[in-house]
Amino acid sequence: MKTLFDATILNGLSLKNRFIRAAVGEKTADGTVNEHILGVYRELSKGGAGALITGFTLVDETERLYPIFALYNDTFIEDHKKLTTLVHESGVNIISQLVYVGSWVIGGRHGEVLLAPSAVKHLRSNATPREASVGEIKTIQRKFAEAALRAKKAGHDGVEIHAAHWFFLSQFLTPYYNRRADHYGGSIENRARMLVETYEAIREAVGANFPVWVKINVNDGFDMGVSLEDCLYAGRELSKRGIDAIEISGDWMERPENSGPFFGNEAEALATETGVSIILTGGNRDFKNMTEILNSTGIAYFGLARPLMKEPNLINRFFENANNSLEPV
Ligand SMILES: Cc1cc2nc3c(=O)[nH]c(=O)nc-3n(C[C@H](O)[C@H](O)[C@H](O)COP(=O)(O)O)c2cc1C
Repeated sequence: MKTLFDATILNGLSLKNRFIRAAVGEKTADGTVNEHILGVYRELSKGGAGALITGFTLVDETERLYPIFALYNDTFIEDHKKLTTLVHESGVNIISQLVYVGSWVIGGRHGEVLLAPSAVKHLRSNATPREASVGEIKTIQRKFAEAALRAKKAGHDGVEIHAAHWFFLSQFLTPYYNRRADHYGGSIENRARMLVETYEAIREAVGANFPVWVKINVNDGFDMGVSLEDCLYAGRELSKRGIDAIEISGDWMERPENSGPFFGNEAEALATETGVSIILTGGNRDFKNMTEILNSTGIAYFGLARPLMKEPNLINRFFENANNSLEPV
């Protein structure tokens, strides 16, 4: 029987258990790793999870007004070394999550040029973007690759491409947001191209042995959203090219917090169809339930975000009580 505290090697990365802190964006004034952030990660790194995925991190300076981590130039490398050194002191892995925000501008940034696959108003931010040209698409792919290399230089143990939650990359997969008539829109072969090419650019920059993960939506929660078949296609294409893990997410904000896991069936299908290591994120609250999923599906890892915000030490508590049946938290 598999247990949540099995030590595993996820394509080269040694993990002391199957718990992963899912990304939580850390608002900082200027993208830097400040004392407050270090305090948050110090606590998380001692809390028991095998790996921490950072909050989303900007790859492009033109999005610099967004108050989150950044790796869009070399000056951030030293800054991130403080973070990776601190987390490594606890024997924990840290994965840098990379994002191009596009039109999902929280708080709005009116008057700025916002790019998206198509000029479709964002359902959450209400911002209306401009369709990205092929030249701009190629530039953004290069920015992801450069930021990934900086993450590697800064000591991160891997990167995760943020292609979920209706940010720029996620929108390419979603028919509602992607109305393009060129080879980045239309069929799933075309809609997946942006993600696949971004992955390829990153892989070329960081080399074969550096972990590259991706987070995708399997369910957008609105009409003309991404379908499971779309995700299976994207997963298979990424698998062929050596992606190391796929984290499964979707319309988590619409779900009652303790009603999960939200995307278990889709994650199981991805595990079966792609053979890639799958991280199931969203609504994981019950130790027994996660153990059952682990032993009855191909899902191998469990991402937790809000539970660790409330109780950074939760995984240690699970460990101490692993033989007891725990109540859902
Ligand atoms: C405050 C907050 C910030 C978040 N920031 C990110 C982020 O930067 N990147 C990301 O992929 N998901 C982000 N998420 C989503 C989580 O990673 C996760 O997918 C979601 O919270 C569902 O998991 P949970 O039920 O364990 O909280 C955030 C969630 C919260 C509550």
